[in-house]
Amino acid sequence: MDKSKRKVVIAGNWKMNMTPSEAKAAVAETAALTDSMTGCDVVLCVPFVDIAAAVEAAKGTNVKIGAQNVHFEAKGAFTGEISASMLLECGVEYVIIGHSERRQYFGETDETVNLRTKAALAAGLKVILCLGEIKEERLAGITDEVVAMQTKLDLAGISADDMKNVIIAYEPVWAIGTGLTATPDQADETCGVIRATLAKLYGADLADATVIQYGGSMNDGNAAELLSKVNVDGGLIGGASLVPAKFAKIVEAAQA
Ligand code: 13P
Repeated sequence: MDKSKRKVVIAGNWKMNMTPSEAKAAVAETAALTDSMTGCDVVLCVPFVDIAAAVEAAKGTNVKIGAQNVHFEAKGAFTGEISASMLLECGVEYVIIGHSERRQYFGETDETVNLRTKAALAAGLKVILCLGEIKEERLAGITDEVVAMQTKLDLAGISADDMKNVIIAYEPVWAIGTGLTATPDQADETCGVIRATLAKLYGADLADATVIQYGGSMNDGNAAELLSKVNVDGGLIGGASLVPAKFAKIVEAAQA
């Protein structure tokens, strides 16, 4: 397997944090700190209301802006939802889909994750598709089956051509916001299972070219070792992405 075929992507997921004025300052600071670090792509996924301020602050820098969800319909009576074309027109390039917090708290299923992914790709957005096992599944020894099944269901009907715009974020649910990190070997192994599943679905070349991130309590202290693993092509970072200096250290660790 050839890791050099893939560009590392370090993405922050701000979740429900930062007002627009805070976002403006944090994007500007992150951009200034990471400006010379061109060895990976840098993305910040911000709340919808922060998008305008974030896009403005990121102009002319290496930082790209993402959203944290998108609806699957193009328009209509879907109170509180946001469409892919709305995001695009606001300057958004990436969107997180299927985050475990959406699956846990907002009824997201593999079926709706699949629909949202298709809508986002059709509109021209890049997708960061999140999946991962819960603690009980890891303890029961069925992690591999769970992530393989999620990969197949979430990507059902998505063409090889569209896969160029899909990043997969492996996020073990038990590691999110808990301070518990998967060991580098666990992260590597499970990202490898996802890659093997992609190889079955799309062939080895596409699987080798697909970026698979790890997410779950990644921070400036553990990023280098996680990112050194052959199957780990980046990170999706929650808490540590809210502090530009810490996030920049993770981006720095990805330059090697
Ligand atoms: P933490 O980095 O805060 O554990 O969050 C990870 C995550 O959910 C990123 O999407």
